[in-house]
Amino acid sequence: MSLLERLEIKHPFFLAPMAGVSTPALAAEVSNQGGLGSLGLGASSITAARGQILATQALTDAPFQVNFFCHDSQKLDREITAQWLDYLAPQFERFNVSVPAELECIYPSFLDNDDFLNLVLETRPKAVSFHFGIPNAHQITTLKAAGILTMVSATNLPEAQAIEAAGIDMIIAQGIEAGGHRGIFNQHIDSAIKTSDLVQLLSKKCDIPVIAAGGIMTGVQARQMLQLGAQAVQLGTAFVQCKSSNANAAYRKALFNSPITQITDSISGRPARGLINQWHTEIDLPLRPAVPAYPYTYDLAKQLHAAASQQGEHGYGAYWAGSNVAQIRELEAADLINQLALELSQTQ
Ligand SMILES: Cc1cc2nc3c(=O)[nH]c(=O)nc-3n(C[C@H](O)[C@H](O)[C@H](O)COP(=O)(O)O)c2cc1C
Repeated sequence: MSLLERLEIKHPFFLAPMAGVSTPALAAEVSNQGGLGSLGLGASSITAARGQILATQALTDAPFQVNFFCHDSQKLDREITAQWLDYLAPQFERFNVSVPAELECIYPSFLDNDDFLNLVLETRPKAVSFHFGIPNAHQITTLKAAGILTMVSATNLPEAQAIEAAGIDMIIAQGIEAGGHRGIFNQHIDSAIKTSDLVQLLSKKCDIPVIAAGGIMTGVQARQMLQLGAQAVQLGTAFVQCKSSNANAAYRKALFNSPITQITDSISGRPARGLINQWHTEIDLPLRPAVPAYPYTYDLAKQLHAAASQQGEHGYGAYWAGSNVAQIRELEAADLINQLALELSQTQ
């Protein structure tokens, strides 16, 4: 059975799960058009996650996927945290706010307990995907037994091989061009492989289906990925501009007006690609101190962004975008799926 048949979708286009940007409306528009819609639930409470899944199911009978984070919950290093808070204090002072004294672990990991797993079992989406790591063995077994398809992001061959060995159904091959967080499994060295090379490598070396993610904005680019061995493509940045996404006005404007990206771990504690703003030009300087662990650093970034944006300064947002963001088009989700499908068919 082909991947599209297993997923019961018409087009080989996945909407990337995007925590903070995903909405039930966006997911349903993509799914209703024959792509695979998605919800990024890694930053949601159980209650909010349940609400989003139920809202999506009310808008579509078509399949969609939900996404969670499998980061190692690390202990906060007191010294590194104190230095980071000191370093960021002048930025807070600019907006007449004191830097917080403590940082919170704002996102639980799927690995920490089975609450999210039980939510998936209760609500039964077609597929569930994971970023930053592989779920626990018992979680994979339980999902398989329930007939729910699983996918995990890989940024290099060892990660992909670990994903396959764990019994996961599909690999999301996330290239260096991708917007948002790199899915690397808590290692410090990033091999920074571009999407086309990663797709080619993983398709050759792994037996399970590979989905290409990173820098894909058009049906022509999608076709190239399929020719290199991908069985579907996942697009994030291309959908952020859709009216039904949760992106705020400043983010939408920046997508079109300053479409240049860079990777930094200063925002969240993990490397992530986003539109260049104050984080990259004022904070991520060569001699800056080390950042505290993810997601503690993100707690601080969100507080700084909230303080700044309250005073009309929007340059501290986490405006995730892929390196091909300059190719972004103003299209609603259903039209974008149709356009991608048209371009894909024309290049055959
Ligand atoms: C705004 C945004 C948020 C993202 N959030 C998530 C997320 O919550 N979970 C996840 O697995 N990937 C997330 N990603 C990464 C995507 O899954 C995917 O790798 C990426 O969007 C592909 O590159 P592109 O943005 O160039 O299409 C996010 C990407 C963006 C642009």
